[in-house]
Amino acid sequence: MAARKIIIDTDPGQDDAVAILLALASPEDVDVLGITAVAGNVPLDLTAKNARIVCELAGKPDVPVFAGCDRPLRRDLVTAEHVHGKTGLDGPDLPDPTMPLQVQHAVDFIIDTLRNHDAGTVTLCPLGPLTNIATVFQKAPDVVDRVQEIVLMGGAYFEVGNITPAAEFNIYVDPEAADIVFKSGAPIVVMPLDVTHKALVTKTRNDAFRALGTGAGTAVAEMTDFFERFDKEKYGSAGAPLHDPCVTAYLIRPDLFSGRHINVEIETTSELTMGMTVADWWGVTDRPANALFIGDLDADGFFDLLTQRLARL
Ligand code: BDR
Ligand code: CA
Repeated sequence: MAARKIIIDTDPGQDDAVAILLALASPEDVDVLGITAVAGNVPLDLTAKNARIVCELAGKPDVPVFAGCDRPLRRDLVTAEHVHGKTGLDGPDLPDPTMPLQVQHAVDFIIDTLRNHDAGTVTLCPLGPLTNIATVFQKAPDVVDRVQEIVLMGGAYFEVGNITPAAEFNIYVDPEAADIVFKSGAPIVVMPLDVTHKALVTKTRNDAFRALGTGAGTAVAEMTDFFERFDKEKYGSAGAPLHDPCVTAYLIRPDLFSGRHINVEIETTSELTMGMTVADWWGVTDRPANALFIGDLDADGFFDLLTQRLARL
């Protein structure tokens, strides 16, 4: 089967970085047409820089990287340096990128790419707040029907919130954008905290990254060393959850994941539960399904895949 054409929309972020590395290491499965940066974990200038650092770490400086929206549609930006550090990629000591940032705005790149490819052949992979994607749909409603699928990391149901008691970070940062995307009618696959909190980098798994003895393997081990302190303290978990790599792993090995086709709505009015993904997991409403909401994964299969693919870089 031909490699699936994707655009990765991202706010790196250590886990975003691992998601990008997995995609770039898997050209037989995914063809990365471009990487679009959005403000999220850290401000846009840093996410656009970090995306290029990661491409160079992968030895793929020719992947075009675009900067997109620098703030949510209607709110002030909330960032997550408390998780990802000041740079967003704290942990390894990586060189500043030498590859250029593209001149075109990320939103226009996504619109042009969807229009220039056959309808139903380009998949969007958002790993951060949904501001760029919602802006695309607002600016060019004709492209919604051209999207093959949106496979995104965001939200939670059983795990509820990580940035507030009710909301997951990516959705909380720009709930209005998330609402536009979930109501768009495009086919959506969601990787919520319910599954990503099962993709934990235990010491054994991190040792396997380090044992690769490559630049990418060492950097991933050092990123997760840094990133894990937050979740270990907060949840008492065994290591860092690799949220965003669930998206790119799903594109390569969907059989590792399971979930339900359900209705998911975004809370945009209540201050208390702002950004909550109200997921009808139990089918208690007659609201139509608009997403495949993933709940479980084969964690060992996921880490085997990731380690094997990282070994190629
Ligand atoms: C999500 O928020 C960010 O901090 C991570 O990169 C991930 O995309 C997890 O809630
Ligand atoms: Ca992210």
